[in-house]
Amino acid sequence: MSEISNIGVLTSGGDAPGMNAATRATVRTAIANGLRVTGIIRGYTGLVAGDFEQLQARSVSNIVQLGGTMLKTSRCEAFLEPEGREQAAARMADAGIDGLIAIGGDGTFRGLRDIYVEHGVSAIGVPGTIDNDIYGTDLTIGFDTAVNTALESIDKIRDTADSHDRIFFIEVMGRKCGAIALEVGVSGGAEAVLVPEVPVDLDELSRAIAQGKSQGKTSYIVVVAEGAHEGGAQAVCDFVSRRVELEGRVSIIGHVQRGGSPTSADRRLASRMGRSAVEALIEGRADIMVGVRCGKTVHVPLEEATSKKKTVDLDLLTLARIMAT
Ligand code: F6P
Repeated sequence: MSEISNIGVLTSGGDAPGMNAATRATVRTAIANGLRVTGIIRGYTGLVAGDFEQLQARSVSNIVQLGGTMLKTSRCEAFLEPEGREQAAARMADAGIDGLIAIGGDGTFRGLRDIYVEHGVSAIGVPGTIDNDIYGTDLTIGFDTAVNTALESIDKIRDTADSHDRIFFIEVMGRKCGAIALEVGVSGGAEAVLVPEVPVDLDELSRAIAQGKSQGKTSYIVVVAEGAHEGGAQAVCDFVSRRVELEGRVSIIGHVQRGGSPTSADRRLASRMGRSAVEALIEGRADIMVGVRCGKTVHVPLEEATSKKKTVDLDLLTLARIMAT
């Protein structure tokens, strides 16, 4: 057991629906265990600046259902430098913060690992990103909500695509990871899904669309993960719609995927992970990320979570292809 008495909690990087639920779980678990909790405002920016706020159980009332993050977030340049991290460690020491929980993605975890290695800060990561691109956990907080938000848009676009006999190229987020695209590609009944993990062959895609056309299809949805092809969905649309002689349109769903009320699955995941992170600190653990694998909570060394690449389920591509016949 450790001597932790005051846990700092921050959210960092792109916000994700469910971050508030994770903050709430962190605060309430800590308080239930007799610990103090300090909210760090705007992620590592607030850590470097000493922008801290004492949190009570009531500070996190009525936020479990809210998107965004009450703690605010940022992508902090200063924390990328050793001097910034040194200043952050000093601010923590001044405020008596002896454990740090960071809710965010891979960039957040790289910074967390650095401050652990350089300054011995007891640091635990909680995976919060819509991209679901973190090695060592089946799911990240926000992914399920983002998928459902994108799916709602795709369903609506299908109505208009069908009415006009058009081909739509719908770009979804995910940075360099095709997880969102694969998920909505299957559940949205897309004719094709393009992901960064598989080289895109526009000739082959055009042939598949032309074949569908010869079999009586009149409208098409092609889901394009951002990062799947140079120039994004627009470039794919320009090439394919000309080749197959269909009227093409592009829809970039964009940041709407990052907002909104988290789904039940994300709230539950966030609550479990926030609790596990605090319990890990109490047990004296550090330099790990909490995750879930096959429904079980796991601890993953931050070094592994940040250096290994998560693989996506490419069988979903085959499934989407079969479903599109
Ligand atoms: O990592 C989350 C994410 O939404 C990615 O899917 C996307 O590539 C990126 O953040 C967008 O970042 P920003 O909000 O800084 O434009």
